[in-house]
Amino acid sequence: MKRIITYGTFDTFHWGHMELLRRAREMGDWLAVGLSTDEFNTIKGKRAYLPYKRRLEILQAIKYVDLVFAENDWGQKRDDIIKYNIDTLVMGDDWQGHFDTLADVCSVVYLTRTKDISSTLIKHTLEKQ
Ligand code: CTP
Repeated sequence: MKRIITYGTFDTFHWGHMELLRRAREMGDWLAVGLSTDEFNTIKGKRAYLPYKRRLEILQAIKYVDLVFAENDWGQKRDDIIKYNIDTLVMGDDWQGHFDTLADVCSVVYLTRTKDISSTLIKHTLEKQ
């Protein structure tokens, strides 16, 4: 069984997220998602429109996702990868090169982002209304 992992905030869930998760899941048999907590987003200087609980419920309802767990800090990825016996870390290519230091514990793959959609765009549109 090939096990895949990815990370993100997945705020205002959109089709770019869905495509990333679909392609990640197709690379293996099992997909775990490390979901940024609201506290971790504050550390990153980000503020999600939806709270963690809502973002968690949405991800858990997605058929490509087998497990969702909290991402609390930058440093936990290596431990997660070992704990869940992960074969491949998949991230969108806005993170190109950022996680190459984990290549000693699993393969690291960056996928092309879906064009013309982001949580930031949706949030800005909502805030203007
Ligand atoms: N992603 C993607 N295509 C998009 C938007 C996001 O493939 N159009 C991917 C990201 O590369 C990442 C994952 O989905 O691997 C989660 O991204 P996240 O940062 O939560 O979503 P964004 O829409 O990029 O949010 P923001 O605008 O806040 O950066």
